[in-house]
Amino acid sequence: MQNTSAENRDEQTAIERQLVDSVVASYDSTADPRLKELMQSLTRHLHAFIREVRLSEEEWSKAIGFLTAVGHITDERRQEFILLSDVLGVSMQTIAVNNPAYKNATEATVFGPFFVEDAPEVALGGDIAGNATGQPCWIEGTVTDTAGNPVPGARIEVWQNDEDGFYDVQYPDGRVAGRAHLYADAHGRYRFWGLTPVPYPIQSDGPVGKMLAATNRSPMRVAHLHFMVTAEGLRTLVTHIFVAGDPQLERGDSVFGVKESLIKQFVAQPPGTPTPDGRDIGDRSWSRCDFDLVLAPERI
Ligand code: BEZ
Ligand code: FE
Repeated sequence: MQNTSAENRDEQTAIERQLVDSVVASYDSTADPRLKELMQSLTRHLHAFIREVRLSEEEWSKAIGFLTAVGHITDERRQEFILLSDVLGVSMQTIAVNNPAYKNATEATVFGPFFVEDAPEVALGGDIAGNATGQPCWIEGTVTDTAGNPVPGARIEVWQNDEDGFYDVQYPDGRVAGRAHLYADAHGRYRFWGLTPVPYPIQSDGPVGKMLAATNRSPMRVAHLHFMVTAEGLRTLVTHIFVAGDPQLERGDSVFGVKESLIKQFVAQPPGTPTPDGRDIGDRSWSRCDFDLVLAPERI
């Protein structure tokens, strides 16, 4: 007697399930229990995806070609895998899982590929822009713990793009600009000059850019300025501030980094408005932003 199509279907399902079980079981004797959990769960999810979308062999071959291209374009200066993780929302999901909201602590967001170790130190009130171009912006605030105690000496790293949308690491001449570190004073206060952030596109001349174009997604990031704050006994905070009123907020952020609490007013100051520290910036307009940083305890 010939198999009915229902019998064929059951047999097919059994073959597919059997393969999942075999691959999962192949990790049974992994010594590290966490590695075992990760590999077995990854297997289940990957196979579920293939089975759900009935992935064709041609599609899988294209996917491998895509991942190969991501690897080929990656070097010491360009990390296309991080970019891929960012546009897939995987970076932000990992941040969400690892940085649970804690009381009034400042929320974390995506790190991005443009942080550089050993950025120069600036004194409080110093200028992090260097020779990066843009509208000057005065940023100030406090660093406290969640009980409101000041965190004197907190180390604050800041980095940002210039008005043309470039970070210094993208300049051809290797100069350092638009980044620095500074330390909060004895009362946990900090202040510095930077640039009013402007929206910019993530690097879209590689495979990730092609993927965004093929799916009609924008490469634009909402205008922002990066912070990383470290202090003894407190959870390291990696975050940004975003510019309230930036039209890109409506259109969305290509790496899903925006959180409502991180959208700040950058208040425009017409030419001639006295600066907070008496700095002479000629006949230029400038802006100012207040941002208080609240650090969660290291262990909650
Ligand atoms: C950034 O903000 O610098 C960034 C973050 C994720 C991907 C690309 C750029
Ligand atoms: Fe950025």
